[in-house]
Amino acid sequence: MIITIDGPTASGKSTVARMIAQKLGWYYLGSGYLYRSITYLLMNKFHYTEDALKAPKLDDVCAVTDPHRFHYSYVGNDPVITYDGEDITPYLKNKEMDLLTSVVATNPMVREKLLELQRHIGSKYNVVVEGRDIGSVVFPKADIKFFITAALEERARRWQEYMAEHQYMHYSLNEAANAITERDDRDSHRAHSPLIATADSVIIDNSGLDKEQTLNKMLEIIREKLSLC
Ligand code: C5P
Repeated sequence: MIITIDGPTASGKSTVARMIAQKLGWYYLGSGYLYRSITYLLMNKFHYTEDALKAPKLDDVCAVTDPHRFHYSYVGNDPVITYDGEDITPYLKNKEMDLLTSVVATNPMVREKLLELQRHIGSKYNVVVEGRDIGSVVFPKADIKFFITAALEERARRWQEYMAEHQYMHYSLNEAANAITERDDRDSHRAHSPLIATADSVIIDNSGLDKEQTLNKMLEIIREKLSLC
């Protein structure tokens, strides 16, 4: 079974996706980690410049997504991504990766390779998957689809807090709003698999809701749709 959660930056989708996976005892797939990993590997193993990231070479995309070298696993309550056995997870969440990943994510070859990988994981487990094109492209026949969003000021505040707490980087609310708007614009307006809410998605605006309230709202819908107790 598959539950998809799509939505813009800092809508809280990865937090609730993990909480739902934990509650149900399902696998969690954060597809953003995959796109971030490809970006990181092209830059750090294949020496791509920011400019070169706009048009990666087929051989390099094949090398970074090679299933013998690149692994996504969900261990405990956290994703772990390795390449040639090296754990690259700690390097994936920073402002540089945020912005450059949305550039790499416009590339159809990259998306095609990651589509295979995501569907492979979806064929092995009951899974909660979050991202931008999960309900629309990756798993269009998912059992339940959510689209989560919140007001821009609220998302900017969450992003600002995340960056201060996890990256020790301080941004004004304005800078935070600009950073996420730039990324969301690129994700929503690209030609291949843009961020959209499909007609069959349950839309949740969690402005003013904390993560527990958002989780409870979603669990209620999941229990009803999947006839769980
Ligand atoms: O979700 P996260 O913020 O980790 O995603 C990082 C970037 O990866 C997004 O801004 C987007 O450009 C790309 N992405 C995507 N499709 C997905 C998941 C992420 O294009 N399904």
